Amino acid sequence: MSNYHIKHLEEYFQVYRKSVRDPETFWAEIAGEHFLWRKKWDTVLEWDFTKPELKWFEGAELNITENCIDRHLLTRGSQTAILFEPNDPKEEAQHITYEELHERVCRFANVLKSKGVEKGDRVCIYLPMIPELAVAVLACARIGAIHSVVFAGFSSTALATRINDSDCKMVLTSDGSYRGAKTIDLKGIVDKALEDCSGVETVLVAKRINSEITMKDGRDEWLQPLLDAAEPRCTPERMKAEDPLFILYTSGSTGTPKGMVHTCGGYMVYTAYTFKNVFQYREGDVYWCTADIGWITGHSYIVYGPLTNGATTVMFEGVPSYPDFGRFWEVVEKHKVNQFYTAPTAIRALAKEKLEFVEKYDLSSLKVLGTVGEPINEEAWHWYNDNIGKGNSPVVDTWWQTETGGIMISPIPFATPTIPTFATLPLPGIQPALMDEKGEEIKGNLVSGRLCIKYPWPSMARTIWGNHQRYKDTYFSAFENKYFTGDGALRDATGYYRITGRVDDVIIVSGHNLGTAPIEDAINEHPAVAESAIVGYPHEVKGNALYGYVILKEVGESRDHDNLRKEINQLISERIGPIAKLDKIQFTSGLPKTRSGKIMRRILRKIASKDTDNLGDTSTLLNPEVVQEVMDNALV
Ligand code: WT7
Repeated sequence: MSNYHIKHLEEYFQVYRKSVRDPETFWAEIAGEHFLWRKKWDTVLEWDFTKPELKWFEGAELNITENCIDRHLLTRGSQTAILFEPNDPKEEAQHITYEELHERVCRFANVLKSKGVEKGDRVCIYLPMIPELAVAVLACARIGAIHSVVFAGFSSTALATRINDSDCKMVLTSDGSYRGAKTIDLKGIVDKALEDCSGVETVLVAKRINSEITMKDGRDEWLQPLLDAAEPRCTPERMKAEDPLFILYTSGSTGTPKGMVHTCGGYMVYTAYTFKNVFQYREGDVYWCTADIGWITGHSYIVYGPLTNGATTVMFEGVPSYPDFGRFWEVVEKHKVNQFYTAPTAIRALAKEKLEFVEKYDLSSLKVLGTVGEPINEEAWHWYNDNIGKGNSPVVDTWWQTETGGIMISPIPFATPTIPTFATLPLPGIQPALMDEKGEEIKGNLVSGRLCIKYPWPSMARTIWGNHQRYKDTYFSAFENKYFTGDGALRDATGYYRITGRVDDVIIVSGHNLGTAPIEDAINEHPAVAESAIVGYPHEVKGNALYGYVILKEVGESRDHDNLRKEINQLISERIGPIAKLDKIQFTSGLPKTRSGKIMRRILRKIASKDTDNLGDTSTLLNPEVVQEVMDNALV
């Protein structure tokens, strides 16, 4: 029996039980029947969460781009692989067929080689959502170079940190990018970043906005002439299943961003399998995920998952509000999109606008609607379900993380009955556990706790680049022999999971994962600032917004506070990016601290959220008097 494509609930339960009873046979069958391996594995799984060590399909050899492209050439060479929809609706969409994609990836791969990129080298990709981005990712994978895509909304400082952390020798970028009515000077940001990156030898620049840029002699070159001159064929590198495929940075609650390392074999199998089932993709469908390839959602569910399944995947350069708030629905109508995958923050933003923006368009092609990135509130869920899906397209609330590589808990549309705000059931192969504060697993239903996973799955990140100890400390130390997600969850009477949010100092703003530490570091760089603490508070569109408490060096200083607020946000933009800016900044003379000097964020969070009836236990505070002051001056 093939377990690859689940179509109804009974089948889900059967497949799920098998995946738990005998995970190795389960994954071996899926991997064996649906992918192209150059050499079969010796062992399906070797694992030890205490080290932690994780090896899937050890001994096997493959190239993921052969699975994404080459093997489709005979059967669907002239089918659209990537459907590019530009920022400006007046500019024509591009249909890139599998054949064309093959040629473009091969040329790009040959260019990388000609510039000295070898298997195992790191290449930083800092590109907007244009076809070159997907092609660059696949070109790296073709020659075994490890791509590190940095979202092109990050600042030069954030970019430099990521380039240096993984020692990238090349950067792929463009002259600039379009974002609605604005343009962004990407090359200028790269130039600034590279002042601090001595390891980068080459910068290849795609032309997108035709802006005037400066090219540094001996380092920078235009990409297109190189592509034109390159050979259109490139033999894929034979990769070991456990060779790294890419690094992708995610914020932690402390310290520098973590370079999560994903490997070739397991990642391919799991993203392909979950794409097929969670979106119920059928031959000929047009699938659209609105994320940016700079995030894991784009890696797994714009590029790798869809392409391994031979799908048509839409790549959208624009934003939901340009030229107006009907843009998403216009694209759905225009390309007859069948599966649509977006973030709750986008849904909430669009739900605030007039319904005419939706009603103008024919959305009857839609079959499945997905959400990801943060908990979806009930109101947004209903708006999405009623107005976009017209009650006919199941909403799949997909829970997962950069670290998990693929979707972990999600309904299977047309099989799993959905309930608003519930991610519902674990996908086959995923064994969740809820843990209490003492480290014991909480069995049974109608319970809540910290969400862990007790058994490996193929697409887990294998390590943090250059820091395996941190990988162990962050994910495998809180609970013995389990992967800890950092999220809290509850399990209802039927066994459905609802993710309740982070239980650490990571704050999710508009679906973007932001650690408190790097933002506080940026604020503290301001010469007038002595100390700061940031917390999240509920925001009707962004899910959470950032609230900063700032202690100035000189008390009672007669500085212009509004101006200071601007300067602080400017600093944050420069150090991290505009997404990390604070909505509210409160100046205070002190912060509530424990006797050991730890800031009590729990109290600050309650004050920022206007939830001050019960502040909880404050007996361990060193300076309880400061709480009243903070409350009296709260910006709520
Ligand atoms: C965190 C991971 C994985 C793609 C995008 C985010 C939160 C993600 C859901 C959901 C509730 C969710 C979690 C998770 N999250 N999806 N469906 N319901 N929360 O990846 O940046 O690594 O963030 O996003 O808190 O831990 P990421």
